[in-house]
Amino acid sequence: MTEKQQQNISQRKIRSYVRREGRFTPSQRSAFESLRPVYGIDSNAEKWDFEALFGRQSDVFMELGFGDGRVLKTLSARHPENDYLGIEVHRPGVGRLMRELNEEGLMNVKLSAEDGMEVLQQKITKESLAGLLIFFPDPWHKKKHNKRRMIQPEFVHMAATRIKPGGLLHLATDWEDYAQQMMKVLSSESLLENSSNKNAFVERPDSRPLTKYEQRGLRLGHGVWDLVFRRKRP
Ligand SMILES: C[S@@+](CC[C@H](N)C(=O)[O-])C[C@H]1O[C@@H](n2cnc3c(N)ncnc32)[C@H](O)[C@@H]1O
Repeated sequence: MTEKQQQNISQRKIRSYVRREGRFTPSQRSAFESLRPVYGIDSNAEKWDFEALFGRQSDVFMELGFGDGRVLKTLSARHPENDYLGIEVHRPGVGRLMRELNEEGLMNVKLSAEDGMEVLQQKITKESLAGLLIFFPDPWHKKKHNKRRMIQPEFVHMAATRIKPGGLLHLATDWEDYAQQMMKVLSSESLLENSSNKNAFVERPDSRPLTKYEQRGLRLGHGVWDLVFRRKRP
């Protein structure tokens, strides 16, 4: 078996989400259908061609598991010079964000409702992303569910290969045990280096907008841990 086949199999085993589709409101469904030509991505494409997708050469950042999308909305408005890919399996949330982006006239974002781990592996060219953002991924806090956590060595290695040399991998969580796992996994990945000169977690950077889950965690008295790593330059 080739290394690629082995990787495909191990990636497939991890399902980092529960597909609780929830209900589409009529406006989410209508946005999801009518705005797909504007904000969606052709899921048949072999590899996503960023220049064709955004109609320009730019730094492209991907957010995986964007939830209600407020990070993408804030960053795309704050940085019109960049382009953003948002991946979220919860389709009503994708529909709502399409509607909101359209209302605000934000055109530097494209969205997909596929599994972001598979998208990274199958659709994203190596060394193409200026940054990958994963904020408050599901903590799968019960011991027997820990294996469903996204941040594990194989995934992180594959994800790191998709980031350009010097590009960013920014993670955040409000679950301490997961934060420690993230730090261990990222620190052990030879393609990455910690941007903190103390090799530690960093203070929440102003560049990261507050997320819905973070707000919820803060209300519950949770701490927050940010990890900012970079793909090493050769
Ligand atoms: C705990 S929520 C956090 C949402 C958002 N980042 C925030 O901080 O408010 C995790 C999100 O990741 C999504 N998710 C989990 N695994 C995913 C995957 N493999 N691909 C795309 N989305 C995923 C879930 O549907 C959920 O919306």
